Amino acid sequence: MTDAAGSYAVTLRNLERRFGEFVAVNRISLDVRQGEIFGFLGPNGAGKSTTIRMLCGLLEPSSGEGTVAGLDIRTQREEIKRRIGYMSQKFSLYDDLTVEENIDFFSGIYRVPREKKAARKDWVLDMANLQEHRHTRTGLLPAGWKQRLSLGCALLHEPRILFLDEPTSGVDPLSRRTFWDLIYEMASQGVTVFVTTHYMEEAEYCDRLALIYRGELVALGTPSDMKGSLMADQVLSVSCERPHEALGVAAGLEGVRDAALFGRDIHLMTEDAGDLAPRLRQVLEARGFQVGTMEPITPSLEDVFVSLIEARDRADGSQQEFKA
Ligand SMILES: Nc1ncnc2c1ncn2[C@@H]1O[C@H](COP(=O)(O)OP(=O)(O)OP(=O)(O)O)[C@@H](O)[C@H]1O
Ligand SMILES: [Mg+2]
Repeated sequence: MTDAAGSYAVTLRNLERRFGEFVAVNRISLDVRQGEIFGFLGPNGAGKSTTIRMLCGLLEPSSGEGTVAGLDIRTQREEIKRRIGYMSQKFSLYDDLTVEENIDFFSGIYRVPREKKAARKDWVLDMANLQEHRHTRTGLLPAGWKQRLSLGCALLHEPRILFLDEPTSGVDPLSRRTFWDLIYEMASQGVTVFVTTHYMEEAEYCDRLALIYRGELVALGTPSDMKGSLMADQVLSVSCERPHEALGVAAGLEGVRDAALFGRDIHLMTEDAGDLAPRLRQVLEARGFQVGTMEPITPSLEDVFVSLIEARDRADGSQQEFKA
């Protein structure tokens, strides 16, 4: 398409997908550089899978434009499917086939040349650490192993761009770590990785992130850019009994921009934690709460996202009130 499309793995301009009246993806624009690990984050139903499916040539956009590997996501969907690797949210391995049979099956789907088939199969078995289990029925493998096999199958045809839709959901932290080692390995070989996740620690592993909420792009940048976006704010972490109730009290205080529960603690976004802390302690104690520690902390990505999403909710809420 354009020159820009050549130097980027993915370009999107005002990409939109509607289902009837419902707008699942709302005019998203972004670029992903070649070789980047790009994290696509958002709560359930935000539009992550719908976006990925449009990028992979599996779903037609309602409007807007995009390229993947320089190919048009509207008119070159079949070429795109051959050029990319895709691991869907519900992975597509066949449980009743053995490990080896699954690899052979996907080798066929991805049209791996006959002379390369044996070497590619070996590569997947090594990479997924499944040489010893090549004759095991796939359905019997633990989730983390299945995920590695699924990743291997998506890489059989040596794609330069890999789309992973929540590849690590439901696996234990150790398997997640191993899986990310594999993602880094791919990226170090120049493969672009576009990955959705719910896990905040995984967001930290990405070169750049996009946060999407209700189909809209809410933020785009590196993990440190995103944390920097809250520089004007400080986060005061408060431990207090009955944190749910205390949160309601704290949220109403002057100088509190946002308030959220993090485990059993309350995190308050404020411009001046030093000013807020004594006032808050006084108010809470006057209402009979036992207050523990109060300390300013460095905001985590989760703080940033909660803050951005709540700000978006408030903006939408005031618009709805205005319309009503
Ligand atoms: N084929 C469809 N028909 C109607 N609505 C759909 C269809 N596919 C998705 N949606 C809706 O679009 C919205 C976005 O769905 P999508 O699967 O893209 O979200 P997601 O961010 O991947 O969520 P999750 O984290 O749960 O996987 C949801 O409200 C979903 O119900
Ligand atoms: Mg999804």
